[in-house]
Amino acid sequence: MRKNNVLIGVTASIAIYKALEVISLLKKKGCSIRVAMTKEATRFISPVVFQALTNSKVYVDVLEEFDDLSDTNITHISLAKWADVFAIVPATSNIIAKLANGISDDAVSLIGLATKAKKLIAPAMNSDMYLNPITISNINRLKEYGCEFVEPIEGDLACNTKGVGHIADVCDIADKIESMLYEKPLSGKNVIVTAGPTSEAIDPVRYITNKSSGKMGYALAKMAYNLGANTILISGQSCLRAPYGVDFVNVESAEEMLNALKDKIKNLDKAIVVMASAIADFKPKNYQNKKIKKRDMTNKMVIELTENPDLTKEINRFAKDNKIELFSIGFAAETNDLIQNATEKIKKKGLNFIVANDVSRSDIGFSSDENEVSIIYANGKIEKLDKMKKDVVAYEILRRIET
Ligand SMILES: Cc1cc2nc3c(=O)[nH]c(=O)nc-3n(C[C@H](O)[C@H](O)[C@H](O)COP(=O)(O)O)c2cc1C
Repeated sequence: MRKNNVLIGVTASIAIYKALEVISLLKKKGCSIRVAMTKEATRFISPVVFQALTNSKVYVDVLEEFDDLSDTNITHISLAKWADVFAIVPATSNIIAKLANGISDDAVSLIGLATKAKKLIAPAMNSDMYLNPITISNINRLKEYGCEFVEPIEGDLACNTKGVGHIADVCDIADKIESMLYEKPLSGKNVIVTAGPTSEAIDPVRYITNKSSGKMGYALAKMAYNLGANTILISGQSCLRAPYGVDFVNVESAEEMLNALKDKIKNLDKAIVVMASAIADFKPKNYQNKKIKKRDMTNKMVIELTENPDLTKEINRFAKDNKIELFSIGFAAETNDLIQNATEKIKKKGLNFIVANDVSRSDIGFSSDENEVSIIYANGKIEKLDKMKKDVVAYEILRRIET
């Protein structure tokens, strides 16, 4: 499904402790990790800490390898070959300058020059250093050579000031590294995913919603980005983090979701739409502008409901009217007669295929990290997938797209 070997280059920035967090996150993602450090970096944190975290020898001294011929796995060339991704976290202005100019006088810059692995750089430095035209020119040069960057953000800096230069969020860095381990079969394609529940307002403080967590949709958006797509995630209320690299749009009601969908596809010739959100079928007929007071209710409160638009049907019609070629994938969350209900939906809504899952089970579906789905195609073919993690389900769904 993806490659696995990540070599982390660590340099002497105040943000060095973030490298430990990134490594922990990558370990949770199942990556194999090795570490190379500059000598200066070892004065900030001992290599022993990285060694303990990765269960592997840390590469620091470029000459030491000649004293240790028995361990050929730690020579810079074999490490450089071993890596699928070489990520420098954090990256000092010094290492950026060295890499941009082919200098290779420490373990990290030496591997930087020797490796053919994809390269990622997460800069961290004082804002005057980051905005110095020399650093900017070095960064641009490295970008021209194909290095990717997770740009630093505004935040607290070591020099007791605020400004740009604060290392990017560790989850973003780990997600970006993970994305670089994937092939890019969806490169150049537009994937729009809807996720989470919609909330239909009763009054300014109350609404009707459902139990969708958004996990399946977020996993799909993240995987679409990993596989190289230009990805947009339109999400109802969810406590999940917006995935790195994805254009994120937050909405509340079904109507807002439909408008966002139309807005995002209107200028495209072709798009893949994955409708993984749990859209409320009904909404309150009469929205009350002011909070309904308890004293105004009799002992019985009745909310009249009216039907929401069918987003899948509407978006297919909109695409047809505007000559946009859509490949659309729907989801069917059912508690009974799963296959029969899903098959009816695929015909009614003009989908390419539908992903059916049983939400009556607590071990899969809503809020769960795993799912067990069946994929039903327009031609009637049914494929039943085993129970698996939602990111693997996302991969299995996206690799079945034919456009
Ligand atoms: C406490 C401290 C914090 C530092 N933080 C940074 C930093 O965040 N970014 C940076 O580019 N340099 C920083 N420096 C300067 C580098 O450590 C210095 O340029 C060093 O030579 C870099 O070595 P290396 O790139 O070989 O690891 C810091 C220095 C000190 C003493």
